[in-house]
Amino acid sequence: MALDNLSEFEGSEAIENTESSIFSRFLRKKTPEELIKCSEKNQLNKALSAFDLVVLGVGAVIGAGIFALSGTAAAGGSEHVGAGPALVVSLIFAAIACSFAALCYAEFAALIPVAGSAFTYTYATLGELAAWFIGWMLVLEYIIGNIALASSWSGYVTSFLRGFDGVLPSFIANPPTWLVSNYAAAKEIYRTASIDKFSGFMEAKLAAMGVENSHISELFSKVQFDPSAFNPAVFERMGFKTLLDPASQIPHLGPVPIAIDIPAIAIMALITYFLYLGIKESAKMALTMVLVKTFVILLFIGVGIVYINPENWTPFAPNGMKGIFVGAYLMFFAYIGFDAVSTAAEETKNPQKDMPIGIVGTLAVCTILYIGVIAIMTGMVPIHEINTHAPIAAAMTSVGQHWVAFLISVGAITGLTSVLLVLQLGGIRIIYAMSRDKFLPDVFSKVHRKYKTPHVNTIIVGIAVAVSTIFLDLNAAAELCNIGTLSAFIMVCAGVRVLRKVDPHRHRPFKVPLVPLVPILGILTCLALVGLGLPSIKTLITFGIWIIIGLLLYFTYGHKKVRKYGYNNEC
Ligand code: ALA
Repeated sequence: MALDNLSEFEGSEAIENTESSIFSRFLRKKTPEELIKCSEKNQLNKALSAFDLVVLGVGAVIGAGIFALSGTAAAGGSEHVGAGPALVVSLIFAAIACSFAALCYAEFAALIPVAGSAFTYTYATLGELAAWFIGWMLVLEYIIGNIALASSWSGYVTSFLRGFDGVLPSFIANPPTWLVSNYAAAKEIYRTASIDKFSGFMEAKLAAMGVENSHISELFSKVQFDPSAFNPAVFERMGFKTLLDPASQIPHLGPVPIAIDIPAIAIMALITYFLYLGIKESAKMALTMVLVKTFVILLFIGVGIVYINPENWTPFAPNGMKGIFVGAYLMFFAYIGFDAVSTAAEETKNPQKDMPIGIVGTLAVCTILYIGVIAIMTGMVPIHEINTHAPIAAAMTSVGQHWVAFLISVGAITGLTSVLLVLQLGGIRIIYAMSRDKFLPDVFSKVHRKYKTPHVNTIIVGIAVAVSTIFLDLNAAAELCNIGTLSAFIMVCAGVRVLRKVDPHRHRPFKVPLVPLVPILGILTCLALVGLGLPSIKTLITFGIWIIIGLLLYFTYGHKKVRKYGYNNEC
């Protein structure tokens, strides 16, 4: 198939089998022909059409970003200012940055339609070490991103079920916190709950002393309450022991606390099951979920338009450009996933034609829906009243449309599920491609005879994500996901430029317009997003540790194995 279109890799720096220097060993490349040949040896099921790809793409993109993050991005949070109604401008900025990268992804995905996405493209252009680096970043994007998503899925479902208190059995509607959160989250929930309880107690005492309600609220809004500054015995006597030791609410097995996010583990098990069964089954599941979430988004737009009060749009940008840029960085997360379409290239019937439609189509559909939702949400609700956990459903509740709010909550849960499904699919396919190219053990590229899926890999990665939800710090995972993705985008943009230079005459089924301008703008806008997003020190340190682990793996395992087997068409 794809090989028919590909001429010899003339003019390129062909693979150096001689080991001339240390550097050339790390810069060795595989030609697109070799990469495609490898993919043909281990055939995955070619079942997807352009429509399936857009479905997968929308399935991967519309999730926590619009259903949850858009609230803090518009209204602001404890650590950043909000964009206000100008969040629509932030969305357009983020979409522009993504569209440069999307065009570059589309050129590569049509040219080298194999499972490894940016990892494979980098292997063909910038060489082995850069390819490993980018593969490692993509694992960060998909797998670490999914740890965050699985936990936030659990949060949504738990609070949704709480609405059925009295209807459903109480162990479902009101389960103990330590069975639906990890240790850190459970501790935080118990701590906040006991501070709230203590504040209520103090308020009642002050009221009984005749202090006016408004003064009490003023006092509580100004005083930062720090329980550790008080004598523990006093709290204990007052019955507020939990204030000092929230973890005492969590059962322990000896020294080990028992706090497991069961819904997060359950959803990962379900997703792993579908991915094990096959790509077509996964796409079918994604289609149902995409229909549900697109329906609720259109419902929100259709109903919400009636409740717009144009006064809510002024001031349009309460925090000026700063708010808009921070909003763009936060909403970048909302676009993550369109690139996952390219990981399904090997399972696409006609990748040369369908990949560009799938990638660019996904981005276009999502941008239009996002702008509609944000314009209406900020028109319906005054900016300081926007709910920062479930902003879209809460906007409907605020105008008395409880049924629509209910349907939107269902749509949000469905949306998160499909994002989990497609990102998990992407992560598994990247690891599959890295294993096939000998960077990782062979077990990750074993294909199931009947289902034609990398089944062992699917199970291992599923278990890894499920187990990791126990240790996760949600915010760090989301920030790490952003950095990993932006690094991958930068490499893909650079790769398009490099391959155009070293191999200008190759037949390209889809061509990025205005090269080198578009790839350069892609690199600059992604760098600007990292710069403006100002990741926290903790995230930067974790990112550094991730890179060090990756390099250690590469030098102690991957590089040696690739040298031995990776360039003899053994894949
Ligand atoms: N774009 C995905 C989301 O918003 C990651 O959930």
